[in-house]
Amino acid sequence: MSINDEIIKKAKELETYVVDKRRDFHMYPELKFEEERTSGIVVNELENLGYEIHRTAKTGVVGILEGEEEGGTVALRADMDALPIQEENNVPYKSRIPGKMHACGHDAHTAMLLGAAKILAEIREHINGRVKLIFQPGEEGGLGAKYIVEDGHLDDVNAVFGIHVWADLPAGIIGVREGPLLASADGFKIKINGKGGHAAAPHLSIDPITVAFDIGNAYQKIITREVNPLQPAVISITRVIAGTAFNIIPEDVEMWGTIRTFNEKVRDYIVDRMKQITEGYANSMRCKGEFTLTMENIPPTINDSKLAEFGREVLKDLGKIEKPDQTLGAEDFSFYTRKAPGLFILLGIRNEKKGIVYPHHHPKFNMDESVLWMGSAIHSLLAYNFLREKK
Ligand code: NI
Repeated sequence: MSINDEIIKKAKELETYVVDKRRDFHMYPELKFEEERTSGIVVNELENLGYEIHRTAKTGVVGILEGEEEGGTVALRADMDALPIQEENNVPYKSRIPGKMHACGHDAHTAMLLGAAKILAEIREHINGRVKLIFQPGEEGGLGAKYIVEDGHLDDVNAVFGIHVWADLPAGIIGVREGPLLASADGFKIKINGKGGHAAAPHLSIDPITVAFDIGNAYQKIITREVNPLQPAVISITRVIAGTAFNIIPEDVEMWGTIRTFNEKVRDYIVDRMKQITEGYANSMRCKGEFTLTMENIPPTINDSKLAEFGREVLKDLGKIEKPDQTLGAEDFSFYTRKAPGLFILLGIRNEKKGIVYPHHHPKFNMDESVLWMGSAIHSLLAYNFLREKK
């Protein structure tokens, strides 16, 4: 039997293990940088398998497996954190923690990578080089990936692979796409300062609300009139804070929102223009405008085209491969792909017959668990074959 067939066979045999682990993590979700229990289980499992353990990024774990032979280094990544959502599924493994839920599938990511840890340890004698398993904390707005890169864990890595279970793809479909897959993300906040007064005497005040409306609309003209229409870009205003009553013009208005693109130059252009418009327009309307970014930029996740081709070839015996749509959602996996060539794979988990139809971050999000063994196989096949080809 070829090593690839052996990997697939071992992954199938681990199906119950992976599902059990996923359910256990699902019952005890932990928010970003609080993944104490989860990472404790990870460390325990990896230690039993003979991995060298490094703690990183507060609650993160890097496990290293040295193969028998010399060679390159490949990294496999799973994120571990949950979301502040009250679960609405009625399943035996429902979240036991009020207000917290694994609604993005990171419970499955951790379980699938633990499955791969077992397979890789078992085929260690055939591994040319080293495998680094990255169990990352704080993906949901915590930039956990960035801290792991800053800790130097990507410095010697020749390729990095990650998987996200994906509600938009039917169960078992393996989504491989070269180039930009997920968007860059920024958060912004603007403040327009005018002069408050009586709503019936607008001429005696400087109304910041009408100015804020205009600025919000002007942002959309950056998208439709200034950015190349073949470059997807989104500016969404998601929060508006102003005023106290129907008859008072307030002193100021605050608006929050997000910017998404697939291209860092487009992103930089949009940020510059938003700042100019906010300050310039507010100023011309006798207000003071302030534009600030509220979080560190998450770069777009760009899949290396050679690795995508490699992935399609190596995974073709495992399941049906499709090219998934791009999405303007963001993933901090991009901090790794900035540092080393990377491939982020989407694994379909949608199953209408089983009522598994809810999107990520929904209180009824769930997954078809019968495909989770495939995640362990994907990780193992990619790591083993990449190192073999690299040697
Ligand atoms: Ni996620």
